[in-house]
Parts: sequence; structure tokens; C-alpha cells
Amino acid sequence: MSIQISPSMLASDFARLADEAAGVADVADWLHIDVMDAHFVPNLTIGLPVVAALLKHASVPLDCHLMIADPDRWAPDYAVAGAQNVTIHAEAASAPVRTLRAIRSAGARAGLAVNPGTAIEPYADLLPEVDMVLVMTVEPGFGGQPFLDLVLPKVARARELISRHGGEIWLQVDGGVTEETIGRCAEAGADVFVAGTAVFGAQDPAAAVESLRASARAAAAGRGRGSGPG
Ligand code: DX5
Ligand code: ZN
Repeated sequence: MSIQISPSMLASDFARLADEAAGVADVADWLHIDVMDAHFVPNLTIGLPVVAALLKHASVPLDCHLMIADPDRWAPDYAVAGAQNVTIHAEAASAPVRTLRAIRSAGARAGLAVNPGTAIEPYADLLPEVDMVLVMTVEPGFGGQPFLDLVLPKVARARELISRHGGEIWLQVDGGVTEETIGRCAEAGADVFVAGTAVFGAQDPAAAVESLRASARAAAAGRGRGSGPG
């Protein structure tokens, strides 16, 4: 399981997106882009035109997290624009299989996200259609919220489902991921970590990415020695 860090641009200076992206380009695996539509979540952030503009400047692949009411309509367009990962919410998709397939057909990795109150088990049969499962560790909509430890058992269950299924499916956590919480996520089986405030709220965002990665690696190594499930 290789550890990846996806800094969330939501916590960066939106007026300086390309500069903020460049500041973590040497150390980040992905740039996490939170697309919010003021319907699926109460907040309104950025959409396809800004993603398309950022794609021209970013040297790191974009990990687009669509918190929108109609992902079936919009998600494939993000993949066509060039985003390398597009994640849709299980709660919002009417035709998740069709949409996940359309994302893949357009050349991107396909992600499926679940909110804290949504069980992962009903989506086990969709695993052949996904490249990444995102277990939200806060209610989506805003950065800077406290991490919800109650979600950790679901992270572990998602890892078990993925292991049982086999193949290369990544397990992402998003929300309240900090130096203090990332170890618990890695122990539970997460391997892709979104962090907004913990990266862009730090004095040195690049150093914060490296430090988060080191903490996650240490915890994942402990898990590998038999301190966790699977
Ligand atoms: C929340 C977003 C997150 C957010 C995380 O709805 O999906 O990606 O930016 O921010 P932090 O790391 O500050 O909790
Ligand atoms: Zn997100």
C-alpha cells in the first residue's frame, strides 16, 4: 500500500490558485479540488472553468471531488477536461455505474465517495467500477472541521471489502486530516489522504505535506506488522 497525499486547494488562496499549487508541486501526489454547488452541500466553490484553467498550470494531477447534486450530468466533463481522478458521491448519483464508466472512458480514475452517515456495504458490488473509495471523515461542505473518529470503523470495513475484492483500489479519507489524526486513518487502512487546513494553513505547506506523509507511513508500517485488521 503506497501512501499518497492530496492537498485540498479549498484551504489555499483562491486568488492565487496556480501559485499555491506550485508551492506543493514537488511533494504532493495530487491536488484535491473541492467542487461544491450549494445544493448537495451548502457551500459554493469552483467548477469546470476554473478546473480547466488550473489544469493548464498545474504539474500535479487533479483529484476532483464533486460535491454536487447532479454528478451524472457533470462528472464526465471533468474527466474530458483532463482531471486525472473524478470522485462522485454515492448519495447524489442516480446512475453511478453509468457515470463511473463514463469517467473511466474519458481516461480518468473513477472515485466513489460516501458521507459519514452512509454505509459502504451497499456499494460493495460497485467496486469493479471504481479506482478509489472516498470515506468522508467530516460532513462535506467546509474545510477546517474536526475529524470524526466515528467514521474509522467504516474505513477499516472499506479496506476489508477492497482486500476481499482484490485489484488496485485506493482508499481515501477527507476531512479533518491532520498530524494528529492521519495515523489513525492509516492504521484503519486508508492510503490516500486529503488535507486542506493542515497543509495550506501551515507556515510551510510543502513541509507539512512531507510531515503528513511520514506520519502516515509510520502508522501504515505498524499496521503491516499486524497491529490492524487485514
Ligand atoms: C470538505 C472537503 C475537504 C476539505 C478538507 O467538504 O471535501 O476536501 O477541503 O479540509 P480540511 O482538511 O481542512 O478538513
Ligand atoms: Zn474534498
